[in-house]
Amino acid sequence: MRHFLRLLGYSLKYRTPFLTGVLVSFFVAVLNGVSLTTFYPLFDALGDRGGGEPFVIQFSESERKLLTKAVAYSALHYIEAPEQARLLSGQVKLPDVPDAPEKIRKDLAERLLHYTRYDKDYGLNNTQQLNLRTMVRWKLKINEAAFDPLKVIYTALIVVFPLYLLKLIFHLISVQLIAKTGYKAVRDLRSDLYEAAQNLPLNYFYREKTGLLMSRMINDVEIVAAVISSNMRDSITNFFYLITHLFLLAYLNLELLIVSAVTLPLILAPVALFTRKISRSTRKSQELLADLNANLQEDIQGVRVIRSFVMEDQQAERFERVNQRLSWRSFKEQFYLKMGPNLVELSSALMMLAIIALGAAYLDGTNFTIGEFITFLMALMFIIRPIIQLASMVGKVAQASAAADRIFSIADRRPDITDPESPVTVPEVQKGITFENIQFTYPESDAQVIKGIDLDIPAGTTVALVGESGGGKSTLMDLLARFFDPDQGRILVDGVDIRNFALSDYRSHIGIVQQDTFLFHGSIRENIAYGSPEHDQSEVEKAARLAHAHDFITEMPEGYDTMVGERGVTLSGGQRQRISIARALLHDPEIMILDEATSALDTESERLVQDALERLFKNRTTFVIAHRLSTIEKADIIVVISHGTIEDMGRHEDLMERSGLYARLQQISREATEPESPADPDKGNS
Ligand SMILES: Nc1ncnc2c1ncn2[C@@H]1O[C@H](COP(=O)(O)OP(=O)(O)O)[C@@H](O)[C@H]1O
Ligand SMILES: [Mg+2]
Repeated sequence: MRHFLRLLGYSLKYRTPFLTGVLVSFFVAVLNGVSLTTFYPLFDALGDRGGGEPFVIQFSESERKLLTKAVAYSALHYIEAPEQARLLSGQVKLPDVPDAPEKIRKDLAERLLHYTRYDKDYGLNNTQQLNLRTMVRWKLKINEAAFDPLKVIYTALIVVFPLYLLKLIFHLISVQLIAKTGYKAVRDLRSDLYEAAQNLPLNYFYREKTGLLMSRMINDVEIVAAVISSNMRDSITNFFYLITHLFLLAYLNLELLIVSAVTLPLILAPVALFTRKISRSTRKSQELLADLNANLQEDIQGVRVIRSFVMEDQQAERFERVNQRLSWRSFKEQFYLKMGPNLVELSSALMMLAIIALGAAYLDGTNFTIGEFITFLMALMFIIRPIIQLASMVGKVAQASAAADRIFSIADRRPDITDPESPVTVPEVQKGITFENIQFTYPESDAQVIKGIDLDIPAGTTVALVGESGGGKSTLMDLLARFFDPDQGRILVDGVDIRNFALSDYRSHIGIVQQDTFLFHGSIRENIAYGSPEHDQSEVEKAARLAHAHDFITEMPEGYDTMVGERGVTLSGGQRQRISIARALLHDPEIMILDEATSALDTESERLVQDALERLFKNRTTFVIAHRLSTIEKADIIVVISHGTIEDMGRHEDLMERSGLYARLQQISREATEPESPADPDKGNS
């Protein structure tokens, strides 16, 4: 519930339109009540026609009370002054005034109108007087018209139509105002969530957690959106409907209202039953749908593996199982969705019948006119739907609350990498980069990945990191790029701890080329200029030439304007790689990180980009991680990393002699490259 209130806070940011909408919807409810009451004199007149006595006006109990009061009060005018004084002081009682008649004839009604023109003579307050006079006048009118159906309709239209029109207009305005603020609130919520997701710890995006994140941003927000926009609007309108109509019902006949309220559980029981069943069904089928999605995604992404291992049948079987269950669940959900309202209809019909039977008893007496009774029934029918909606809102609020809980758990995540209070500007790397006793363990994991690394890199050198996979090379580079902060030790650039730099400033000095190049949906040009949009076409082209990408780009149908990325043309791994090298060259950072940047290239294209890479290494401090050791033999320093520690470092020749691990890695690398690897990495690769 706390989370739900916080959701409402998003709506309350647009307080004025929201509250105006609430106010307007209150008027809608009042207008509906008023338009209902205009019906009852109409029914009275119609109901009396068969009775054969024309021009007779029937009074309701409350109206008769008013009349009696007026008569009693006016009687005061006909007695002597001293008697009046004794009356007012309570010494004597007024002789009993007979109750006003249940029905009066037309001429009497007209006299009544005449007499009650001034309130002061009748002890009625303004509203009471207005009430009485309006009723009498309206009843007179309808009574006259009752002999001509067209006239009845005409008379009714004059009063009812403007009321309904006004109600319609108000309703539209309230829908506009409330629903709009709801959707705006959802928009803000989504933005907040997106912003929070942008700053989430990097670890959040690994493994299966991306699916979770997507589900939060889309499904959970969707659940919340429905509740705080359209359902919210309905609830507000319905709440006011309920309140005003309950007043109306109580005014018409309190006893009958109490009796009706007792039958309420009769309607609400099936509602409660079905809401629970429906929400369980919905949840289950959503889960199954997500399952089906996951299955499909796997089938599509793993299509090569599936076909090469001839696993089509097994995959199909798995799919069929989920498909079957989903189909059964969806059917059940639909069944409950359709059954619920029918049962509610049945039980409300039963309730109506019971009330009609009770009403018949009342109508026998003098307390209730037919018109009042029909109006009562109509008002009652009008609030059944709001009651049901409000009842089902309870479940929806609970659901939205749970979704909000999940949403806020992300939105409230503070980034663990933050800017310092007073950031130092990043120097041009003159002296070098120092790693001081770096230790690091991934969050939510026990094993220490980096176990005390000390490294001093002079500015402008090319450093190669080698070692078996899982040794911690990429992790060390993630620490350098400040995707994570080390648990122990610090990283210094020109003697300044990198935690003293503003994050965006620092990262703009770093370029990263990784094995899996991510291309955004956009043109090749935009992808090369990603992160440095200030460069013009000639510079983009120059970078592409240096990266040996220009040739294949110009061969494409639309050259630099060819669309790539998820929804664009497919590029081979090597082509993507060269685009990302061009991106890095254009960006021209002082610190460069190449993490297996050439792994996706075959030996041929690797040779092609080799000199592009060497250009990339020039005039900057570069870290290279590579499997193919040929790439790194020319490095100034080679650091052998094993199990999170530095095993050895030096130049190629020294290490070949000294380090067993290095020599073994070289051996493996040779064996892998020399007989020309059978797989062709230049084939399309997602
Ligand atoms: N996000 C992560 N959460 C937990 N452990 C991780 C994460 N990323 C990598 N590791 C672990 O850290 C170790 C070092 O990984 P990595 O730095 O990628 O090695 P390398 O790049 O040398 O192959 C491995 O044991 C790996 O399982
Ligand atoms: Mg790695």
